[in-house]
Amino acid sequence: PLVSMKEMLEDAKANSYAVGQFNLNNLEYAQAILQAAEEEKSPVILGVSEGAGKYMGGFRVVVAMVKALMEEYGTTVPVAIHLDHGSSFEACAKAIQAGFTSVMIDASHGPFEENIAITSKVVELAHIHGISVEAELGTVGGQEDDVIADGVIYADPKECQELVERTGIDCLAPALGSVHGPYKGEPNLGFKEMEEIGAASGVPLVLHGGTGIPTKDIKRAISYGTSKVNVNTDNQISQARRVREVLNEKPDLYDPRKYLGPGREAIKETVIGKMREFGSSNQA
Ligand code: G3H
Ligand code: ZN
Repeated sequence: PLVSMKEMLEDAKANSYAVGQFNLNNLEYAQAILQAAEEEKSPVILGVSEGAGKYMGGFRVVVAMVKALMEEYGTTVPVAIHLDHGSSFEACAKAIQAGFTSVMIDASHGPFEENIAITSKVVELAHIHGISVEAELGTVGGQEDDVIADGVIYADPKECQELVERTGIDCLAPALGSVHGPYKGEPNLGFKEMEEIGAASGVPLVLHGGTGIPTKDIKRAISYGTSKVNVNTDNQISQARRVREVLNEKPDLYDPRKYLGPGREAIKETVIGKMREFGSSNQA
């Protein structure tokens, strides 16, 4: 069923695993991720950025597509449709209106008091509708859509606690050195801060930039209260690699089903691997 992230993440936190957020880019992503979740008996979060939502034809199209697939597949595992890096109150409201079950308000780029004000407004609206809210503090490195971070700023543990207390968010993404897209070298996550924030804030934590983080770091993050890990680039890389292989092997191929189909399989295999790594398999 379609649900918010709230119960999912609380269960994950209580049982020391993390739920994967896998981003949608088109139909094949939705198919691959829903199939993987059902096969693995894993809860799952479908992440939709504003840019990807626009690409797929708008938030309503995304919701209709996901609902129809879930009906067709007879999906039994919990699924959340989550706005990823919502840039404004309006974007979150639009997603909620379209039928999203969860939103992220990313007001981490502005001043702290502004972040609190916008996030509180989103929480007020979302909670009326039973929708969960994720907020961010600090800056995730790299690029996502057209959001380019010009420097990685670590979240401040005191500010994290204050944000959680004053806004009533359901989960928090404290940026602690993670990066969107591939890492240059080994990631250097702020585990000391993560432990402190996890213990003080009480809410499940979210780790953005899940691509390229070694398993030992994922496990350590989970032990400090990280209950959601976001992955997009890894799926894109495995899909692109497979599509490239197929097209290189058969230069005369033009039927999209013949290369997007194998690409979809590659996404599914990657998602299954992540679900096992995060420990969410067999938790639904
Ligand atoms: O919000 C989405 C994620 O943080 C994706 O990060 O593309 O590095 O896996 P990634
Ligand atoms: Zn992110």
